[in-house]
Order: sequence, then C-alpha cells, then structure tokens
Amino acid sequence: MVRELKHPILLHKLNRMRDLSTHREVFRKLLEELATLMVYEALADLKTHAREIEIWTGRREFSFVNEEEVVFIPILRAGVPMLEGALKVLPNASSGFLGIKRDEETLESKIYYSRLPKLKGRIAVILDPMLATGGTLLKALEEVAKGYPLKTLSIHIVCSPEGIERVCKENVQHELFTVSVDEGLNDKGYIIPGLGDVGDRLFS
Ligand code: PRP
Repeated sequence: MVRELKHPILLHKLNRMRDLSTHREVFRKLLEELATLMVYEALADLKTHAREIEIWTGRREFSFVNEEEVVFIPILRAGVPMLEGALKVLPNASSGFLGIKRDEETLESKIYYSRLPKLKGRIAVILDPMLATGGTLLKALEEVAKGYPLKTLSIHIVCSPEGIERVCKENVQHELFTVSVDEGLNDKGYIIPGLGDVGDRLFS
C-alpha cells in the first residue's frame, strides 16, 4: 500500500526543502516537522485500549494508545532529524538505528550498523527521507523482518516511482507513506526533481 499524502502544508514544506537557498538549520527543521506530521497520519489506525482513570466527576474509562508498542527506526544518516520529529508524536516510543550506505558507483546498499530493540509484536516505523532505487529500504525491511514485528511501515518525503515499484513487488504487504512520488531517477540514481543529497545537505 502506497499513500502519497498530498496535503498542501506537507507539499509547501517539501518544496521549501527543494529550494537550495534553504540552508541547513531550516532544512533540518523542515524535515523534522514533516516527520511529525507524517507519523501522526501514518499511525491513524493505531490500536487503542480502554483504561479507567479518575477525573473530576469520578472514575471513567477512556481510550489510550500503548506508546511502547511503536519502534521508530531512522536510517542513518538522513533519517536522523526525522526521529526527533517522530518522537514529538510519541515520546515514549522505542527507537532502533540502522546505518545503511549506498555505494554511489554500484548503487548497492550495505548495512554498516544495526542496533534494534525487541520488535516482536510491535509496530516498526522506518524513517528515511528518500527512496531512490529502493535498495536501502529493501535492506532495512530484510533486517527488520528478522525481529518479527507485528507490522512495518516506512515514512519518506520523496520517492521515485522505480523505487516504489521495486520495493512493493517484493513486499506486497508493506505500507509506505510519502509526501511526493517524484518524476524518476537520473542515471546516477538520484531522484528528479528530488532534494539533492539529503545526507550531505544535513551533515557534510
Ligand atoms: C540516501 C538516502 C536513502 C538512500 C536512498 O542515503 O538518505 O537512505 O540514499 O537510496 P536508494 O533508495 O537508492 O537505496 P545515502 O546512501 O546517501 O547515505 P547517507 O544518508 O549516509 O548520506
């Protein structure tokens, strides 16, 4: 399932990120804000459970979510600011970290760091602003699947149609959220129009 969240405010923030005159501090802030809004929407069907609490009229039952049921997994490096944004929505969620780097010559992605909490019975939410060839997300999904989560979602800002097709062909159940599905990839595997190299714009 692919959901392109074409909300005007999301598009406005994304297009400010595309603008090269948006410098690092604001670029990072926009990515963080987009993650907050996207996570809020992507978790709209999070299970709730009833709990009785004391309110001003006495005891009554209300619904709550189990924040610990969710595990946010940013992909290093570019997904890091998205974690901050995601934790604004569910500050008591767990977090796991996957370092995955794409070789710019072969476009092959390799995991160089993996530290995930217990995933069994929990909802894994992968955070990565870009889905280009799809190699990184496929590696992340493989690694996350080893922990048997209840469900896995991924949240992106821009995706290429080629990358989405590749990931969805191999992961029919996967739920993917993005602000935009852009035009496509150039011969270097960059998304057009895309955001340029997000890792470099944030950190280099
Ligand atoms: C970028 C981006 C994604 C990946 C997408 O990361 O942040 O993780 O490429 O490309 P793919 O869909 O073709 O695999 P990069 O490998 O440049 O690492 P970085 O975040 O450390 O800069």
